[in-house]
Amino acid sequence: MATTLITGGLVVGATGSAKMDVLIDGGTIAAVLAPGSTVLGHDLAASVDVVIDASGKYVVPGGVDAHTHMEMPFGGTFASDTFETGTTAAAWGGTTTIVDFVVQYPDQRPLEQYQVWQDKAAGNCAIDYGFHQILSDVQDDSLKAMDELIAEGVTSFKLFMAYKGVFLSDDGQILRAFQKGSENGALMMMHAENGAMIDVLVQQAVSAGNTSPYYHGLTRPWQAEEEATHRAIMIADLTGAPLYVVHVSAKQAVAQIAAARDRGLNVFGETCPQYLYLSLEEQLGAPGFEGAKWVCSTPLRSRAEGHQSHMWQSLRTNDIQMVSTDHCPFCMKDQKEMGIGDFSKIPNGIGSVEHRMDLMYQGVVSGEITLERWVEITSTTPARMFGLYGRKGVIQPGADADVVIYDPKGHTSIGLGKTHHMNMDYSAWEGFEIDGHVDTVLSRGSVIVDDGAFLGRAGHGQYVKRGLSQYLS
Ligand code: URP
Ligand code: ZN
Ligand code: ZN
Ligand code: ZN
Repeated sequence: MATTLITGGLVVGATGSAKMDVLIDGGTIAAVLAPGSTVLGHDLAASVDVVIDASGKYVVPGGVDAHTHMEMPFGGTFASDTFETGTTAAAWGGTTTIVDFVVQYPDQRPLEQYQVWQDKAAGNCAIDYGFHQILSDVQDDSLKAMDELIAEGVTSFKLFMAYKGVFLSDDGQILRAFQKGSENGALMMMHAENGAMIDVLVQQAVSAGNTSPYYHGLTRPWQAEEEATHRAIMIADLTGAPLYVVHVSAKQAVAQIAAARDRGLNVFGETCPQYLYLSLEEQLGAPGFEGAKWVCSTPLRSRAEGHQSHMWQSLRTNDIQMVSTDHCPFCMKDQKEMGIGDFSKIPNGIGSVEHRMDLMYQGVVSGEITLERWVEITSTTPARMFGLYGRKGVIQPGADADVVIYDPKGHTSIGLGKTHHMNMDYSAWEGFEIDGHVDTVLSRGSVIVDDGAFLGRAGHGQYVKRGLSQYLS
């Protein structure tokens, strides 16, 4: 296997940055050394196979996107990115690991579904991948399966408080699953929205003829998110299970998480770029059916109410620990269009897997977060949260050589023409101008993106068997 030396860059980690050279041996980081180091009298740059000059650039651990839904069967269709297109797009954007969701619907067996997802992903991924498992309508069978799935490296399970008849588990079912999580160390993930309240509001809106995408936002109010977040926290407290609340968008839900953390509970929150940048008024409220592009759940929140700016603050204070995309793309044509005349039939989801590192870097540019916090919330914490740390999320000897060389002087225009690689006929981020640019991406020592060219291949990506969360106190 080849040896590579990345020279002259600023190596950025969650706890600090320094000008260092990074020596890679095969697929692994061998050493992080003072610039220009010699080893036993040998000039390293002259002894390695490949030298990559990263002068003036940041050298960061590859992004870990812990919430994606490639080819997910949902809303009467399938998320439009396959494991191949979605992981390729991720690579373009500096993400070198995804954790996707195995889906078990009520009439399905969890372990069989796990095998179905392994088969879908095998040989098709451009970057490494792991799995969480969605458990719908929790039964005895699902509880048993949790132990076996942990042995397979699926150490986190997502339950739903919304989508009755599709995903929803009632509070008793959630309690039982959390008891199991408390016993076997699994991290319990929650889609925290009060589905019963939402179902009534949706039915009332549609019967009143309020059918445009804007009403998707109005019928999933922050009260439904705050209430469900609180309820999930109470069940976590009662059972002792660690809780990770996915796609947090409401500032009131953040307050619930912060209060739980202040009480010493292992309760964590994830947000997504859409909740930091986009809003109910500007995107969901776009003219005609345009707002369908941004229909996702939890929904985009009102900017007038200040959710977006509060979310940036929460990232600074660690009330929210990390940023994933919840990448769940659907095309407008034939997919989002299923909801013309009835917003409740618009498949829920936004595609962003390619843009997370760039979008979050804008927080560094604008002074919302530090350079180190950028790496922490996009790579290091996701790795620790989901039992990947050491191999992923850090540049240190022994870690997988998943490395991004990021050019702060570069520029990226998102979503205009063919500038993105996600399998979508639009971009939720069209028109965003990004300061910064992903120049080079290495996955386990192989250069998979360089200077505007994709050099990776489907099948390079390997399944990563995850351990238990490394983030618990
Ligand atoms: O709208 C969303 N978030 N779609 C993906 C499924 C989920 O609830 O995460
Ligand atoms: Zn969800
Ligand atoms: Zn999701
Ligand atoms: Zn560049």
